[in-house]
Amino acid sequence: MTINRYKHSWPTRLFHAALALSIITQLATSQFMVTPKAGRPENVFFEIHEYSGLTALVLATLFFLNIAFRNRGTEAGLLFPWFSGARLRALGADISQFLKSAAKFRLPPYHSESPIASAVHGLGLLLMALMASTGALWWAGGKFGVPGSQITDVAMEVHEIFSNLVWVYLIGHAAMALIHHYTDQMSLKEMWSLKKHRG
Ligand code: HEM
Ligand code: HEM
Repeated sequence: MTINRYKHSWPTRLFHAALALSIITQLATSQFMVTPKAGRPENVFFEIHEYSGLTALVLATLFFLNIAFRNRGTEAGLLFPWFSGARLRALGADISQFLKSAAKFRLPPYHSESPIASAVHGLGLLLMALMASTGALWWAGGKFGVPGSQITDVAMEVHEIFSNLVWVYLIGHAAMALIHHYTDQMSLKEMWSLKKHRG
């Protein structure tokens, strides 16, 4: 009996959905939260931001472990091409193809193993890990007292500097996924189904 498989394994789809939902929660709460400052109490949105952010750190770690050990889905070298000459050359060729299409106001056709899309996905994952770990470092500093409080101040500065990129990634990545879905080049279910197998 042949099993009709999704492109992405079940753990990949599970961790992707959970991480995406936690990041959307982070962005939403960041709009309404009141942070604790001298004499000013935090509000519930800040508490949600803290705890779903700590959850995002666990989920990002699980996502990395899953990439390292899975035997199906995008190769780790496509997501993180930065240490291989051959991968970087393929990325350069894909970027130049992308620019040629953009110059003609056309979107390049969808390729499931596209070097540029995969490298952007890898950078997105690294960005979420950076946001979650800088937030967690700041939190641990307040909770347990990290020696040399400057580390936690720097962590929070980095957190704030990179926060706008999270919006850019989410909007850009979701828009590309929706365009590919509605132009019938790929189905969102390839990543957003939680069924073990198709059908
Ligand atoms: C900020 C939250 C998100 C993060 C961090 C994220 C991250 C990622 C990563 C790392 C991959 C590559 C996984 C792999 O190849 O193993 C991926 C793929 C994908 N994501 Fe997201 N994602 C997010 C939100 C979304 C949203 C909201 C959508 C849909 C509207 C979406 C749709 C997809 C699809 C369809 C793929 C598969 C693309 C393909 O196989 O060609 N993602 N995402
Ligand atoms: C992937 C996880 C996270 C994302 C995407 C994220 C996103 C954001 C965003 C968008 C802002 C608003 C920045 C601004 O407008 O200047 C922010 C601020 C902040 N976040 Fe996070 N965050 C994450 C995890 C965490 C964690 C784990 C904590 C602590 C437990 C945390 C604590 C804070 C604090 C204290 C602020 C600054 C508030 C201020 O003084 O204005 N974040 N975060």
